[in-house]
Amino acid sequence: MPATVIVGLQWGDEGKGKATDFLAEPVTLVVRGHGGDNAGHTIVVGDETFKLHLIPAGVLYPHITAVIGSGVVVNPETLIAELDMLAERGIDTTKVRASGAAHVILPYHRALDTAREASLGNGRVGTTGRGIGPAYEDRAARTGLRMEDLLDRAVLERKLVRVLKEKRAVLDSLGAEASPSAEPLVEQALGWGERLRPHIVDTTWLVQAALRRGDHVLVEGAQGTLLDIDHGSYPYVTSSNAIAAGACAGAGIGPLQVDEVMGVTKAYATRVGSGPFPTELHDEIGEGIASRVLNKIDILSGIDPIRLCIAYEIDGRRVEAWPSQADLLERALPIYRDFPGWTEPIHDVRTLRDLPENARHYVTAIEEQAGVPIVLLSVGPERTQTIERAWRPMRHQPVVPG
Ligand code: IMP
Repeated sequence: MPATVIVGLQWGDEGKGKATDFLAEPVTLVVRGHGGDNAGHTIVVGDETFKLHLIPAGVLYPHITAVIGSGVVVNPETLIAELDMLAERGIDTTKVRASGAAHVILPYHRALDTAREASLGNGRVGTTGRGIGPAYEDRAARTGLRMEDLLDRAVLERKLVRVLKEKRAVLDSLGAEASPSAEPLVEQALGWGERLRPHIVDTTWLVQAALRRGDHVLVEGAQGTLLDIDHGSYPYVTSSNAIAAGACAGAGIGPLQVDEVMGVTKAYATRVGSGPFPTELHDEIGEGIASRVLNKIDILSGIDPIRLCIAYEIDGRRVEAWPSQADLLERALPIYRDFPGWTEPIHDVRTLRDLPENARHYVTAIEEQAGVPIVLLSVGPERTQTIERAWRPMRHQPVVPG
């Protein structure tokens, strides 16, 4: 049985947590492959709301092994707090696994992130301030600490003494007050290691063993394609590959082991952080959308017309493809196709047929524009507020949209 990848198609916050939770029930293992606690995945089950930053959404099912793969950058404090929060709320966390090869976000990474953003002024990326970029920098520079290092005092001492010399100099040059020293950090890191020891394993083989047994594996993406470090609006991106292939690399899954990629998109686009956003609304409709709680097609009820950006005009030329170059995107003017709206609330609709006609037209137009079938539609935050199309992913049936 192969793997299914769930990936964000916009700037993150598309609702991947809900999609993963909805699709996870029949699988035995859910793995995250990139990003860190910059992600925030919200899952609503009945009247309970769970907010997860690191542990994949599958953890809410007792039969699922929730895995943090080697491509994730892990803030151990966040992971411990998340494990404690879940345990307090009665969720079994004994099957949570974190890769020994995943890199650790340390306090100096967060300090560097904040100091660098402050020094950039108006040119700042608008990062989440979680130390994501600096941790990935150290991974690439081969000076990072990995989760397995938290279990070994000698390794921690050796690596931290060496790396902190450089970090202090950089922090100082950025005008940051933080001046981290090795000894207290070694003790703190050992404490994290002791707490996390039962969870730290070689997750690549864990995932591969599951696939070999014939189990279905779900890969939970984080952030979104437009924040991808190669294909997004660089430099206003995150520091990992948020596309499906990036999630696979960090999860330890080869391309031929994936047979389905599910893209999650909102019925409209939002963006946090900085960077060009040509279709941003600065009017009362934009404010109305932003102030509503969850970001799915139900949010569009009452908006008329609904505008779908189908291309851009850049320097007088029509451009069909999304321009990833930030300065081109800055000058891009959206070209819209307008659709009549609908007024009915649609939270209780469970079949496509029962959606207002205009909502169905809008869904079909997005489907045609994207050239892929829409198989799930979310009409509210709760797990069951979901419309399934005739074809359901992961059942390996032919695509019959409609
Ligand atoms: P970083 O990942 O904290 O370095 O932030 C880089 C960019 O990605 C900023 O624009 C953030 O707002 C954005 N970003 C990172 N993670 C998320 C996410 O989970 N949802 C939405 N935006 C994100």
